Amino acid sequence: MCGIVGYIGHRDAYPVVLKGLQRLEYRGYDSAGIALYDGEELKLCKTKGKVADLKEKLESSISTKGNVGLGHTRWATHGVPNDVNSHPHYSNSGNLVIIHNGIIENYDALKKELKTRGFTFESDTDTEVLVNLIEDVSNKEGVKLGKAVQIALNQTVGAYAIAVFDKRKPNEIVVARLGSPLAIGVGEDEFFIASDASPFIEYTSNAIYLEDGEMAVVRRDKGIKVRKIKDDSLVDPYVQELQLNLEQIEKGGYEHFMLKEIYEQPSAISDTFRGRMLADKGIIRMAGVDDNIERISNAKRILIVACGTSWHAGLVAEYIFEDLARIPVEVEYASEFRYRNPIISENDVVIAISQSGETADTMAAIKLAKEKGAFVFGVCNVVGSSISRETHAGAYTHAGPEIGVASTKAFTTQITVLTLMALKLAKHKGTISHPDFMLLLQEMERIPGKVKLALGSNENIKFIADIYKDARNCLYLGRGFNFPVALEGALKLKEISYIHAEGYPAAEMKHGPIALIDEQMPVVVIATKKGHYEKVVSNIQEIKSRSGKIIAIVTEGDTEVRDLADHVIEVPETMELLTPLLTTIPLQLLSYHIAVMLGKNVDQPRNLAKSVTVE
Ligand code: M6R
Repeated sequence: MCGIVGYIGHRDAYPVVLKGLQRLEYRGYDSAGIALYDGEELKLCKTKGKVADLKEKLESSISTKGNVGLGHTRWATHGVPNDVNSHPHYSNSGNLVIIHNGIIENYDALKKELKTRGFTFESDTDTEVLVNLIEDVSNKEGVKLGKAVQIALNQTVGAYAIAVFDKRKPNEIVVARLGSPLAIGVGEDEFFIASDASPFIEYTSNAIYLEDGEMAVVRRDKGIKVRKIKDDSLVDPYVQELQLNLEQIEKGGYEHFMLKEIYEQPSAISDTFRGRMLADKGIIRMAGVDDNIERISNAKRILIVACGTSWHAGLVAEYIFEDLARIPVEVEYASEFRYRNPIISENDVVIAISQSGETADTMAAIKLAKEKGAFVFGVCNVVGSSISRETHAGAYTHAGPEIGVASTKAFTTQITVLTLMALKLAKHKGTISHPDFMLLLQEMERIPGKVKLALGSNENIKFIADIYKDARNCLYLGRGFNFPVALEGALKLKEISYIHAEGYPAAEMKHGPIALIDEQMPVVVIATKKGHYEKVVSNIQEIKSRSGKIIAIVTEGDTEVRDLADHVIEVPETMELLTPLLTTIPLQLLSYHIAVMLGKNVDQPRNLAKSVTVE
């Protein structure tokens, strides 16, 4: 939620900050702002709307000169999205300016206190309170900016990644993080600050990721000093070499990031296997699992915590783990888990799944599980993310940057990692026979090619999308391993096309949702061969006899469902347990095309943000 960018150095800050904001817009896009310091004046421009609106407004209202700049793209928490609530925020004197990603929970009490000392506020934001608190500390204590920021932060409760600039100290920017990500790009006499490394990869491949509870004074002339916010102790920063390249974060000829990411799935899944699976030799290597194999395979129970699409991947994993490794699994929304006094013991293993590795609810669930003694394993996509660092061990999905807000390749690569993990545990526990293990591995290896074939239905899917794009509601049905895929298909449709959609286990339909079915209702049914095929065919009959419109996802060559359904979309045949990796593909494409046909902003759907770093 919210993207922050900063620059201090010898270049013009404006183009760096502006491009950085465009790359971070996936984090929030209801308003944006930039502050620039040109050696004399600190100027500010902000607006409701997207970064493109800001560019237009800024270039016609203020000079773009200056070697210091701070920018912000917002996902509103406190205060509606409007010009005034947009960041950056000035302090009352106009000397300080701040950008902030996170929430200051005790802002109201602090605000009241500051008001008694004569401070006034323009906006409804917690951030304006923070910058004035820093100013208040600096006035009262007569300390430098870094110290004032530190003292002020020690009075706050909440989460933040902030950057603060004082025009009276033009050679430095002070940054700090707790619960929201913050990276510092280290160049030659120049420094970049951002929520992730994408704004500065063309300038430097060296980055410092601040840890929670750390702050840094970034000085153009003297470099970076990192310390702990709580006890002031100095920290030796670890300068990391970035693996990211520019091509990965650009659209590469696709109209939208979402489409690019859908099409990247064959290679993303292969990348997830790479170095881990030797199918012909029957070997799976996963360092995080290998190093903790007894702890994980002896777990009394596996608890999976996640949100949104990652939660759906967790549901698929529940079926796979129980089937292969015979370990009981429970899947929880991280947001519920953390607030319901769950029973967790030292014999439990918690698996936290998160594409971004920054989701606040998942992070809080991990902390709770650790407090109660559970072993926590992370499945994240973003390397070095907060969740990957907070967990005891883990496995990355290696999907590459996912920029479209609707998660696609993250989902299939999460399922891939979790399947490898379940297979490894099953082999170790002896709950799978060697021939079955080998068969599954060999079939896994064929999955990227089969995903490619599934993508070949794109034109057919586009045709179907055109017929149903004006539907008001849509049902998604699936059974067994494909029930979570039905949930995921419905989530994809609602989040990018704003059409109401629900996913159900196919057999549940007759317990209520069947009442919704009439000739206006498209029902997407996952009806691949094996598993509960015959039962799903009966469900299709029930829909048909109530005049519902059936879009069926079927196994290549299927004739039975073809005769019943209004439309079929074929996917290649595979082992039942692996079908989610294929059946997901047409559902992603269907929602994509419907949203494009409806003229929706596919990559940045309304009210959403890519990583939800607030509760
Ligand atoms: O980064 P995470 O995987 O932790 O994010 C979890 C959800 O916020 C995310 O999957 C969300 O539901 C997506 N917009 C779904 O497409």
